[in-house]
Amino acid sequence: MLLLVGLSTLLVVYIGGQEVISGRATAGNIAEFIIYVNMLTWPMASLGWVTSIIQRAAASQERINEFLHLEPEITSAVLTEKELKGKIEFRNVSFDYPDSGIKALNNVSFTVDPGKSIAILGRTGSGKSTIANLLLRMYDSTEGHVLIDDTHIELLPLYSVRQQTGYVPQDVFLFSDTIQNNILFGIHKEIPEAERRTMAMSAAKEAVIYDNIMDFPKNFDTMIGERGITLSGGQKQRLSIARAIIKRPKILIFDDCLSAVDTNTERQILNNLTEIMKGRTSVIISHRVSSVRDADEIIFLDNGKIVERGNHDSLIEAKGEYFELFEKQMLEEVQ
Ligand SMILES: Nc1ncnc2c1ncn2[C@@H]1O[C@H](COP(=O)(O)OP(=O)(O)OP(=O)(O)O)[C@@H](O)[C@H]1O
Ligand SMILES: [Mg+2]
Repeated sequence: MLLLVGLSTLLVVYIGGQEVISGRATAGNIAEFIIYVNMLTWPMASLGWVTSIIQRAAASQERINEFLHLEPEITSAVLTEKELKGKIEFRNVSFDYPDSGIKALNNVSFTVDPGKSIAILGRTGSGKSTIANLLLRMYDSTEGHVLIDDTHIELLPLYSVRQQTGYVPQDVFLFSDTIQNNILFGIHKEIPEAERRTMAMSAAKEAVIYDNIMDFPKNFDTMIGERGITLSGGQKQRLSIARAIIKRPKILIFDDCLSAVDTNTERQILNNLTEIMKGRTSVIISHRVSSVRDADEIIFLDNGKIVERGNHDSLIEAKGEYFELFEKQMLEEVQ
């Protein structure tokens, strides 16, 4: 572009010079033309510039479109909403993760009646979180069926299933927003502010994080950093519990949600949860015997298979894997 501009100035001077010599123009005309040529420089340069920007934008738009046109594999068969009672059943469920091909669950069956609780225990990688993933329909089972209220989960409205399930994920997800907004995530925005505050407060009390929040300089209006970096692991977990129970859902899923709190706080939270869990179906996933001993049924997973099942007393009597884990953890506690 600059070369062209320079050349055109040269041309003006050369041809203009000849015209002046032959007497058809004055020296002033040359100056005038040089100014005109310079005035044209910027519009010409921006034309080239805009063309290149448009080409870059087109390439980016193509990549955005690729993402926007992605069809979710999990779709809702029914769009009407439905009130759930909370019965859960796994019928010979096997599941392979599509991206790794790992068999995470192998012929797992269990039933939880509405209002009852089930605990899932097992070593790391045994498939506990996979059960939660299938219940929330993050994936569909490879073999067998997951049923809620005796209906295949694929035939239930996806929105209702997720709306009426309170889920505390293993890796807590918090937004860079105020504590109150993080707790109220999933609650309708139309509720008046004063009521929102009371709701957040009572959920925080139930999740035993109220005192921590009150110690922060701006209490419930404290901003938390991206992904909750300004909170400790246990505080994040309890905030996530508050978020799950505030909806009063029919089904509660706690995935290892007490791993980062001390045993005292754990007892306190569990005490509060017993009250909340009344009339709600709950799935408690844990590594610790102390958080699952009160459950109506306990299943012990190993390598995606159920190796033991029963309640606390019967499993202790059976003297199997559960008993071993219990003894080990009791010893650790005493020490
Ligand atoms: N998103 C995924 N994609 C592929 N494979 C996965 C995925 N998530 C888990 N797996 C695999 O599935 C198996 C079961 O994983 P899962 O997360 O259910 O274990 P877990 O019992 O919850 O373990 P932990 O106690 O450590 O949380 C593991 O072998 C794991 O490698
Ligand atoms: Mg897990």
